[in-house]
Amino acid sequence: MNKQIILLPGDGIGREIMDSAKVVLQAVAHEYGHSFTFHQHAIGGDAIDQYGTPLPEETIQACQNADAILLGAVGGPKWDQVAVHLRPERGLLGIRKTLGLFANLRPVKGFQALLHASPIKEEIIQDSDILIIRELTGGLYFGQPSERRDNGNAVVDTLSYTREEMERIIDKAFESARIRNKHLTSVDKANVLESSRLWREVVEEKAKDYPDVTVEHMLVDACAMKLITNPSAFDVIVTENLFGDILSDEASVLTGSLGMLPSASVRSDGVGLYEPVHGTAPDIAGKGIANPLGMILSAALMLRFSFGMEEEASEIEKAVNECLEQGYHTADLRIKDGIQVGTKEMTDKVLENL
Ligand code: NAI
Ligand code: MG
Repeated sequence: MNKQIILLPGDGIGREIMDSAKVVLQAVAHEYGHSFTFHQHAIGGDAIDQYGTPLPEETIQACQNADAILLGAVGGPKWDQVAVHLRPERGLLGIRKTLGLFANLRPVKGFQALLHASPIKEEIIQDSDILIIRELTGGLYFGQPSERRDNGNAVVDTLSYTREEMERIIDKAFESARIRNKHLTSVDKANVLESSRLWREVVEEKAKDYPDVTVEHMLVDACAMKLITNPSAFDVIVTENLFGDILSDEASVLTGSLGMLPSASVRSDGVGLYEPVHGTAPDIAGKGIANPLGMILSAALMLRFSFGMEEEASEIEKAVNECLEQGYHTADLRIKDGIQVGTKEMTDKVLENL
C-alpha cells in the first residue's frame, strides 16, 4: 500500500522521538512491501519561531491531504510568555478541530515486563486490556457560553452535544468493540445530567445495530473506582469529552510510565492523528534519553486504525515487548535488573526485534 504520512515533530523531546517512529515505519514498509512517503511540517513552538503562528496554513493544507499524521509533542517554557491565542497548544487543539478528529482512542494494556512498574498490584492489572474512546470535539470544553458573570463572581460553562455528535462516537465504539472482545461499557452520569440521558438513549438505539456486542451502562464515579479495583472487567469504554479526559489519565496508571502510552485521534473516514500521551519533557530535552516507545506505539496505532494493517501493527507491539522482556529500558522506567539505554539505542533494539 502507498501512504502519505505527515510528520509534526513539534518541540522538546517531540523532535527526538519522531525519528524513532519514522525508522520503525520504514523497516515495516520494507518488510511488507508498502510505500510510505513522509512529509515534515511545523507545529507548536517550532512553528511560532518559524512562522509566527502555532498552526501555519501550509501545515493545515498538508494534513488535509494526508492519509495520516504523526505528532511528537508541543510546548515548553520558551513560549510561556506568548499571548494565549498564539500558544503552542493552540496548534494541537486547532489541528484536531480543523480535521474533525472527534474520536480519541487510548489503548491501555500493560506490558508483562512492566507489571511491577505500576503502583497497582500485579494480580489486579495482570489481564487488563482496555480501549478508552473519548469524544474529543464537543461537550464542556467547547460549549458556549463559557464566561464570567456578575463582575467575575459567577461563572458558566456549557455542556452541549447534538444527537449526531453522539451517534458518530458511539458508532465508532461499537465498531471497535466488534473487532475486540465485543463488550462495550458506556460511561455517563445519567442520574444527574440531561446530556447523559440522551447519550444513554443513543447507545440503546445503536445497540440494535450491533447485536453481537454486549452493552452495559456505568455511572462515571463507579467507573473511576472499578478501573482501579477490577480493570480486567473492561473491554471498550466510551464516554464524553470531560469524563474521558479524566478516566484515560487514571487508567494510564495501570501501565507504568507516561513515556509508554500511545494515542489516536480519528474521524469516520479513517484519517487520524497519532501521538504519544506525554508532553515535551523540557527537563530531559536535548539529552538523548527520552523514551521513544510511546511514539513508536503511536505509529503502530496508525497502521492499525488508519491503514487497517493489523499484522504490521502487532509486529511493532511484539518487538517493543521483546525489548522490554530483554531488560532494555530508558531512564523513566524502573525495571529490576534492567539495562538502561538512550533514545537511539532503544530504537535500535526495537528494529533488531522486528
Ligand atoms: P511531560 O509529559 O512533558 O513530562 C512529565 C514528566 O514525564 C517529566 O519529568 C518528563 O521528563 C517525563 N517524560 C515525559 N515523556 C517522557 C518520555 N518519552 N521519556 C522519558 N520521560 C518522559 O509533561 P509536563 O512537564 O507537564 O509538560 C511539559 C510541556 O509539554 C508543557 O509545555 C506542556 O504544555 C507540554 N505538553 C504537551 C502535550 C502534547 O503536545 N500533547 C501533552 C502534555 C504536555
Ligand atoms: Mg488529560
